Order: sequence, then C-alpha cells, then structure tokens
Amino acid sequence: MNIFNLNYNTAKPFLKWAGGKTQLLKDLEKQLPLQIKETREINNYVEPFIGGGAFFFYLKNNYNIDRALISDVNKEIIIGYLTIKNNHKELIDELQRIQDEYLMKSTEERKKYYYNIRTEYNQNIPSFNYKDYDASWIIRASQLIFLNKTCFNGLFRQNRKGEFNVPSGKYKNPKICDETNIVAVNKALQNTEIMICDFAETQKFVNAETLVYLDPPYRPLNNSSSFTSYSKEGFDDEDQIRLSKYYEELDEIGADLILSNSDPKNQNPNYNFFDNLYNKFNIQRIRAS
Ligand SMILES: C[S@@+](CC[C@H](N)C(=O)[O-])C[C@H]1O[C@@H](n2cnc3c(N)ncnc32)[C@H](O)[C@@H]1O
Repeated sequence: MNIFNLNYNTAKPFLKWAGGKTQLLKDLEKQLPLQIKETREINNYVEPFIGGGAFFFYLKNNYNIDRALISDVNKEIIIGYLTIKNNHKELIDELQRIQDEYLMKSTEERKKYYYNIRTEYNQNIPSFNYKDYDASWIIRASQLIFLNKTCFNGLFRQNRKGEFNVPSGKYKNPKICDETNIVAVNKALQNTEIMICDFAETQKFVNAETLVYLDPPYRPLNNSSSFTSYSKEGFDDEDQIRLSKYYEELDEIGADLILSNSDPKNQNPNYNFFDNLYNKFNIQRIRAS
C-alpha cells in the first residue's frame, strides 16, 4: 500500500517575502511567554507586519491559536491572504492552469508570458478595486503568486508607483501551484481576521490576553541595502519612532510583545538608535544572514 504524506496541516508562507523570518523561527519561539510555551495556547494573536507570515504559520502549526488578526499595509499580499481564505479552490484551479501553460513553453516563450502577465498586473493597479472583495481578486492573487514564483530571485518588489518591477527568472520547474500548501494555508486562516492597514490601526484588537509580534521593515544597515523597497510606502526613522511609541502603548495594555529589527550596531558599534527607543525593554541580539 502506498501512503502519500500530503500534509494539509503544515502551512508555510505562500510567497517568498523580503525579510521573511523562516530562518529565525526557533529564535523567535524562545521569546514566547512561559505560559504560552507550557500550555501551547494563545488566546489572541496579532501580527501587524505580516508579510509572508513565517512566524504566524509556525505558531499555527505548533500552538492552539483561538483568534488572530494579521495585517499589512501592502494591499497585494493581503489580496493573496483573503483569496486563499475565501476562494482557495478557485485559486488552485487558476494557478494550475497558469502552471500547465507556462511549463510547456520554451525559455523565450516563458519570458514573453511572464512580461505579459507583469504588464497586465501593473496596468490594472489604478483601476483595481482593493476595497471590495470579488472574483477579480482570484485572478490578481494568481498573478501575484505566478510572478513571485517565476521572477528573478523569487522576491516581491515594487517601485514607488506600486508596480511589480522584478525581471523574469530562469527556474526550470517552478512550483507555481502548491496545492497542498494552499489548502493548509486556507485551514490556518480560519478564525483569522485579515486587514489592509497601517500597524497603528491594530490597537483595537489588542488586550491583556494578546500576543503581538511586530516585524517592521528593516532600517537599512548601510546605504546600499534598502530592504524597505518591497513596499512602496517606505518605513523611515519617523515610522520607527512612531512604532516604538505604539509598542509602549501596547505594553501599557498588558499584551505580550515581541519585536524584531535589524541592528545598525553591526556597522557602527556606537549607534544606539534602537537601544534608545526600546531602553525600557529587554533587547536580545541574535545572528542572522
Ligand atoms: C520585514 S517585513 C515582514 C516579514 C514577515 N515577518 C515574514 O516572515 O515574511 C515588513 C512588512 O511590513 C509591511 N509594512 C511596511 N510599512 C507598514 C506599515 N506602516 N504598517 C503595516 N505594515 C507595514 C511591509 O509591507 C512588509 O510586509
């Protein structure tokens, strides 16, 4: 007898996302409050910079989360989450159709196919209805996933106009339709509220029973590395300061808080930007590539 191990219960990010935390899951887990580690229960989880959602999915796979809110200011990724929550079967069908078409093409034809979809995706930005969910979101989510899986380096990046601007990639056999994972992500998103918003709008979902994980865009470590380019809305020092005040407000509510960021001390040992902003809190430095 063949036993197929299709694990519909282990969800992982459906997109490769800049600043994704897959390599830091164990380090993040160590920071969880003792009570959560012991009971494996999280009453209420809020993640306002969800991106690819590596930590959220890890927690969903390994802990019991009663309620969750995930959000991001990036509309396109939230379209992906909402479509998988509402219409995952239709999305799988559309991705399968795209995958079948793409994989049978020659290298040159694939390139043309990629740029056709990229052009259509970008041309639709001004007229697309990002407010009201309807069937057009399924097509947009499928294009987002296709572009992410077949672009150079597999990353989502936008220019200032919000256009997806990554050139085509050369993967031989990209998995455009990962049905098993989409089904698992759909399951993980039950009991989960999903919103497009600035991080500060999530406060009304936070109470003393809440675990909040904040993973803002990195402060560039030097002039050549600008990790903020995956979202057209930049995240500057003013935003970092605004976030540290928000962190203090959530702390006053009594929520459990974890925040990660890059460390400018790597470049300049006397640089104390984050040490000053978070001097009331416990800071731990960890190594990451
Ligand atoms: C470092 S990434 C998060 C990565 C995520 N933890 C993962 O594992 O993929 C930061 C996220 O913050 C989002 N973002 C930028 N400015 C924001 C804001 N003002 N409010 C909410 N989200 C914002 C970006 O779109 C991006 O998805």
